[in-house]
Amino acid sequence: MNQYVIKGGTPLVGEVEIGGAKNAALGILAGALLANETVEIENVPDLRDTNVMLDALRSIGAYVEKVDRHTVKVNGSTISTTLLDIDSIKKIRGSYYFAGALLGKYKNAEVALPGGCNIGSRPVDQHIKGFRALGAKVDIEHGCIVADAEKLKGSHIYLDVVSVGATINVMLASVMAEGQTYIENAAKEPHVVDVANFLNSMGASIKGAGTDVIRIRGVEKLHGCHYSIIPDQIEAGTFMLAAAVTKGDVLVKNIIPKHLESITSKLLEIGCEVEESDDAIRVVSSKPFRTTQVKTLPYPGFPTDMQPQIVVALGLAEGTSIVTESIFENRFKYVDELTRLGANIKVEGNTAVIEGVSRYTGANLTAPDLRAGAALVVAGLAANGFTSIDDIHYVERGYEDFPEKLRSLGADIEIVTDDKELQEFKLKAMNR
Ligand code: UD1
Repeated sequence: MNQYVIKGGTPLVGEVEIGGAKNAALGILAGALLANETVEIENVPDLRDTNVMLDALRSIGAYVEKVDRHTVKVNGSTISTTLLDIDSIKKIRGSYYFAGALLGKYKNAEVALPGGCNIGSRPVDQHIKGFRALGAKVDIEHGCIVADAEKLKGSHIYLDVVSVGATINVMLASVMAEGQTYIENAAKEPHVVDVANFLNSMGASIKGAGTDVIRIRGVEKLHGCHYSIIPDQIEAGTFMLAAAVTKGDVLVKNIIPKHLESITSKLLEIGCEVEESDDAIRVVSSKPFRTTQVKTLPYPGFPTDMQPQIVVALGLAEGTSIVTESIFENRFKYVDELTRLGANIKVEGNTAVIEGVSRYTGANLTAPDLRAGAALVVAGLAANGFTSIDDIHYVERGYEDFPEKLRSLGADIEIVTDDKELQEFKLKAMNR
């Protein structure tokens, strides 16, 4: 029964290093199979999702070597099948990138449909639309995306919704197609740009990543490269919010401040001090929070993956705040858990109306998904007394060494496996 147990109320103080971006890593690890030479990737976060991607690569015959905890070598020349149906792959979202990459390289892919967090319906129609536009025949059969083409030909693809997954997947499928592909209404997230930069360093010709229109000139083949993944925007944002709600003072290091602008501006609005340098942000929080309005939007808007964390902060602001979720319709499930800590939040449709309270008090909680789970940890760190959080496997999908990093900032948090360990933690914490 692995649980986090937290004794809240300690301001987080110190410095924390942010790891590589999970969502970039998922696209990049799938993209690594496109070459028949060795690709060396650094700054790969050591997470369940990235390890599942590596297992998936091994299962189709690719050569995979973990050079150290955060560096892997992948060589796709030994791939022997385009059928990917291992059980673990169904549990992660990034599995769909294998459909794009295998189709792009072998003109054939049969990949189990993705799982991931249950935060709303997560269709793949835009991915399929893109593959079809490139000339593939695509069906859903027995829970798999089955895609097949004699040859892939560049095309104009207009995405009906701004989709990170579809943008990356169409890039993967089209880098070796004949001629030019245009992805219009493309997602502009930093990890989309990172995947494009990675593919370009393998010899692809992708221009415009980070804008609405991405242009891909197909090349005959890709080659090996060395690449280092960008820092994780959401891990960084989560630590910024943890500093804020615990009234702490934290230097979040190894980040790209530009990727965090929407979060920085909300922290300034609610009354935190935020200092930016080249590759770090310091968040100092000493005043009561002011209220604000937040609407989640595709990048450069406020990220949906930071929505639960900002709600935790606004739950402690003086007055009424409104948070609107415009990306996933089912992303307020954690609000009931926050209520157990004393938060006063009403959800109507895709809007949360938050009446700030003066404090949270510890309770037993369950993580409903990855980012909401992390937000509950942040709330527990601010709450008076003890908070325990079940189902932490969700959180472990996206945060490497989360309790360790928080402890290095002074937090009182541990993973316990049974009641005895829970009681021991409480006794120790009370005597500290
Ligand atoms: C990715 C991230 C996730 C993040 C999300 C939005 C990964 C593994 N996950 O998810 O953490 O919350 O971006 O930043 O990178 N949509 C369709 N049809 C499609 C694809 C998407 O209608 O074919 C809709 C979705 O339902 C959603 C919106 O488009 O409403 C955005 O989804 P998308 O950007 O594709 O999210 P994911 O790639 O699944």
